[in-house]
Amino acid sequence: MKRRTFVKNAAALSSMAMFTSCATGKLGGKKVRTAHIGVGGMGAEDLKSISSHPNVEVYALCDVDADRLAQAKMLHPKAKTFADYRVMFDQIGKNIDAVIVSTPDHTHAPASMMAMNMDKPVYCQKPLTHHVSEARAMNKLAKEKNLITQMGIQVHSFYDYKLATKLIQSGIIGKVNTVRAWSPKNWGYDGPIPTGSDEVPANLDWNLWLGTAKQRPFKKGMYHPENWRKIMDYGCGTFGDMGVHIFDTPYNALALGVPRTITNKCRPSNGFGFPENNFVTYEFPGTPFTTDTLTWIWYDGPGAPNPHPELVLPNKDKLPDQGAIFYGEKGNLLLPHFLQLPKLIVDGKYQAIDLSKYDVSDVGKPTVSYDLEVHKHYHQFIDACLGKDTCTAPFSYAAKLTETILLGVIAGRFPNQTLHWDSEKGSFAEAEANQYLEGAYREF
Ligand SMILES: NC(=O)c1ccc[n+]([C@@H]2O[C@H](COP(=O)([O-])OP(=O)(O)OC[C@H]3O[C@@H](n4cnc5c(N)ncnc54)[C@H](O)[C@@H]3O)[C@@H](O)[C@H]2O)c1
Repeated sequence: MKRRTFVKNAAALSSMAMFTSCATGKLGGKKVRTAHIGVGGMGAEDLKSISSHPNVEVYALCDVDADRLAQAKMLHPKAKTFADYRVMFDQIGKNIDAVIVSTPDHTHAPASMMAMNMDKPVYCQKPLTHHVSEARAMNKLAKEKNLITQMGIQVHSFYDYKLATKLIQSGIIGKVNTVRAWSPKNWGYDGPIPTGSDEVPANLDWNLWLGTAKQRPFKKGMYHPENWRKIMDYGCGTFGDMGVHIFDTPYNALALGVPRTITNKCRPSNGFGFPENNFVTYEFPGTPFTTDTLTWIWYDGPGAPNPHPELVLPNKDKLPDQGAIFYGEKGNLLLPHFLQLPKLIVDGKYQAIDLSKYDVSDVGKPTVSYDLEVHKHYHQFIDACLGKDTCTAPFSYAAKLTETILLGVIAGRFPNQTLHWDSEKGSFAEAEANQYLEGAYREF
């Protein structure tokens, strides 16, 4: 099925739905009745953080894995349970005020579009979508319907990231010319394409798990849970997975828009698994916070980052496991990922940051622990549904960030080749790359 047909079907469902006032943040003092699609893995964390808001009633839980669904149901015994989000929306859609989508990436857009077509606010995990076309469609629909939306990049609401944004925008290192960022995580797969099939466990509905993705035999340990990230049909590799988090602050702080060029140096594509190592370079046109061109360089996979003279810290300190360094006219700013303060480096030495020189009144208080900070991003979404706050990672922002990252993921199919992106046309100058901007939807 073409993506457009799926979206049209979802729209038809929406015409049966009642408009919920939560869509525009006017629920007032009521409880927000949430529906959670994908409740294992990160979905369990999302459920915990959302339900810690005093104005939330967990109304529905949906998962294609009966064991994971049962675990969530034990925590929220009153919630209605479903294996298929389409059935959930059909049967109880009118009672739902907000939807949380925590499935593998390929199901983000199909589930979120259905929810948004029914006028529901959506909190969707990162990266927003699996395809560029889906990110654009989600952004467009959220805008047309004026929906409250938030992407699940919870560290966006953490003190250290907000502080780094403030410092960069206040000119602490002057105009920035380069950002180098890295993650040694390995969500790639250089192994052989599996053959044959394994028996599908009784607790898993494999057809629903595949959803709109093309039919494929089940293989134990290969896809569900979490390893789907490594596979092109379902995830976005390490770059899509971690790049969205680690590039978020540079993208936001430097007010970046659309990249001009993207190059990914990695192994040749086999059309199945993502490369285990990506070395990606973007060039962006200048912004008020950058020099004429901003170069963003990303390293991932085992051993990342590759050694480079610019990736050296004062006192020969070890680089943080994951993070980014901003290089500016007046110095560099190191931003570890995450829960560590940014560090200023001038002339090869650390320099204390005198916060009294900056207006950091809206940055909050230093983070003491992940557990104490993490609810903020989620509660912001619920408070926005209640008309009391504004989301800081709405789909209007998330779609642009996700699109930018997905361009680098696509560049991985054309190793060492520089791709030229035309955002207005929504296409690469290299025609052969355009086929990867959109994917066909299977009827399931
Ligand atoms: N923000 C973060 O820090 C963070 C961390 C980890 C994962 N994530 C994101 O969370 C999402 C899930 O990742 P994960 O690691 O939890 O994966 P996972 O495979 O461990 O869990 C996914 C869950 O969704 C369920 N599921 C799959 N297809 C479904 C469908 N069609 N309908 C309902 N449920 C379905 C699975 O059974 C499972 O319970 C991904 O988008 C990932 O990028 C975000």
